[in-house]
Amino acid sequence: MKKQHVVDLILKTTRSDLKNAGSAFAPINIALCKYWGKRDTELNLPVTPSLSVSLQPLGTTTHITIAGGQDQVYLNGECKDSSSEFYKRISLFLSMFRPDADTFFTVRTENNVPTAAGLASSASGFAALVFALNDLFSWDLSRRYLSVLARLGSGSACRSVYQGFVKWRQGELSNGSDSYAEALNYTWPDLRIGVIEIATSEKCTSSRDAMKRTVDTSILYHAWPDKVERDMNLLIDAIKARDFEVLGRVSESNALAMHATMMDSWPPVIYWVPETVKTIHKIQEMRHSGIPIYFTIDAGPNIKILFLAEHEQQVRQSCSALTVLSPFAMNP
Ligand code: DP6
Repeated sequence: MKKQHVVDLILKTTRSDLKNAGSAFAPINIALCKYWGKRDTELNLPVTPSLSVSLQPLGTTTHITIAGGQDQVYLNGECKDSSSEFYKRISLFLSMFRPDADTFFTVRTENNVPTAAGLASSASGFAALVFALNDLFSWDLSRRYLSVLARLGSGSACRSVYQGFVKWRQGELSNGSDSYAEALNYTWPDLRIGVIEIATSEKCTSSRDAMKRTVDTSILYHAWPDKVERDMNLLIDAIKARDFEVLGRVSESNALAMHATMMDSWPPVIYWVPETVKTIHKIQEMRHSGIPIYFTIDAGPNIKILFLAEHEQQVRQSCSALTVLSPFAMNP
C-alpha cells in the first residue's frame, strides 16, 4: 500500500478548514527498547514494538503557511536548497497533503538539538510538521491518527506525538492502521537523562539504510524480535515499579544488541567513534564505583545516560559536554 492511500483514508474522516498559519512543537524521544527493522519500508511499519521517553524541552518547533510557486523550507533560519536531502524529504511528505497540485507551503522549522547527530531530530521534526499541518488545516485529528501520519515521515516520529513514556505497537495490518504510539501513563520524577554530545556532524549512513542492511544481511537479527519481546516486558514492569536498576540494565543491553546486529551486517555499520567507546568504559567504571548509571546509543556516536536525581551532582562532575534532562519535571 502507498503512503498516499493511508493519508487519504485518514483525511476522509475529518473536515478541512484552511487557516493562515499553523504551528506546533514536538519533543525528541529516545528509545529504551529500539525500533530496528521494518516489515514494510513504504509505510515504516516495524518488525517489533518499541518504547521511548520523550525529552521535552528538546525538540522541534514548526511554523507552516501557504506559499506561491514552490515549497520553501527553512531549517534553523537557513533557507534549504531544493536539491538538498532535507528539502526533498519535507517537500515529498508535504505533497501528500496538498489540496491541489498548485498549493505549496513555507515551512520554518527550528531544532534545539543538532540535526542528524543521532539525537533523533527527524522524529520531533515529522511529529511537529504533522501537528502544524493539523493546525493549519483545522483537521482536529486524534493522537492516534497524528501518530500514524508522523510514522509515514519517519518511524520513530510516531512516538514524538506524546510526552513521557511511549509505546509504539508494531501492529499486524498491512495498511498500518494498528501501528501507532500510545502514552504509558506512568511518570518517574527522579529519572534523569543525560545527553553526552560526542559529535554533531552528519552521519554517513542513515538509520534508514542501516536498518535495511541489517534486516537484509544480519544473521544476529533473527534473534532480535525475541530480545525485544523480553525487553519490552521487563521495561514496562520496571517503569511501573520504578525499578531503576532493571530499567537501566535492560535499556543498555537493548542498545548494545541493536548495535551488534548492525555490526553483524554487511557491509558493517559502525556508528561508534573512539570517544564513544571511551565514554562507555567510563560509565562502566562509574557503575563499578557505586553510581547507578546506564547508557543507550541510537544510530550515531552520541551517548545518552540514565541516572536518578540523587546522583546528578556526581554525574555532572564526571561527565563533560553533558546536557541533563528531567523528562517528568512538569509532570510529577
Ligand atoms: C536507532 O525512525 O529514524 O533511533 O523510520 O527510517 O525514518 P525511519 O527510521 P528512524 O529510526 C530510528 C532508529 C533508532 C531507534 C529508535 O528510535 O527506536
